[in-house]
Amino acid sequence: MRIAYLQYNPVYLDVAHNLGRVEALLEGVEADLIVLPELFASGYFFRSLDDLATVAEPIPEGPITQWMLDWCRETGAVLVGGLPERSGDQFFNSAVVVGPEGLIGCYRKVHLFYEEKLHFSPGDLGFQVFEVSDRNSQPYRLGVMICFDWYFPEAARTLALLGADVIAHPSNLVRPDCPRAMPIRALENHVFTITANRYGTESNGRETLRFIGRSLICDPAGRVLQEAPPEGDHVGIAEIEPQEARNRRLTSYNDLFKDRRPAFYRLS
Ligand code: ACM
Repeated sequence: MRIAYLQYNPVYLDVAHNLGRVEALLEGVEADLIVLPELFASGYFFRSLDDLATVAEPIPEGPITQWMLDWCRETGAVLVGGLPERSGDQFFNSAVVVGPEGLIGCYRKVHLFYEEKLHFSPGDLGFQVFEVSDRNSQPYRLGVMICFDWYFPEAARTLALLGADVIAHPSNLVRPDCPRAMPIRALENHVFTITANRYGTESNGRETLRFIGRSLICDPAGRVLQEAPPEGDHVGIAEIEPQEARNRRLTSYNDLFKDRRPAFYRLS
């Protein structure tokens, strides 16, 4: 199956413009699974709760989710994209998984980064793996984590232990290290990873963040199958066999998961 990321540079708070831009960039892209960046249609560095409130949406009624639903219905692809979720009086930095048949699931970012803590509630749904199908109805298992979650190896490990073949990783990376770390996350968990990042800058009036681009796709051997430049729109596509992620045998004596010794690990 074909998996892809979209890297681009959204305009702060201009959801209609950003959705138009994503639609144009995805024109003619043939893939079974496409990952979009974190907060892909709203922008990232919120100046205030009022700004966030103007773009935060209920799922699935909001315009970003509805655009994703329409796009998947038309193309038959699965999309994963980050958006600001409004739930009651709380805001979450969320990612939705959408397919041609409708909404498949929602993940709320567990590890909030920097000033996200001023605006968003920490995710309360835990890590989840969704059963999805490619355009030939072949099933695979899709886990989701968002950006800074990569810094916590427990996130990708939890998704792999839950059975993920592929981890979708919508991102707005500002620290330089993630593109070096993702091949290791893929290798140590024997999964495919798709990191979809943005590029450009955004200011909250007091400070400017620069996003590092360099979106990438890794395979279970830790090889980088696609990598975007630090700046510029880019669609990276890789042909993969998701079942490749399921055989975790390393030698005739070793299996990556069966050899784990949880009794000796300190996790809290
Ligand atoms: C990040 O979590 N957006 C760095």
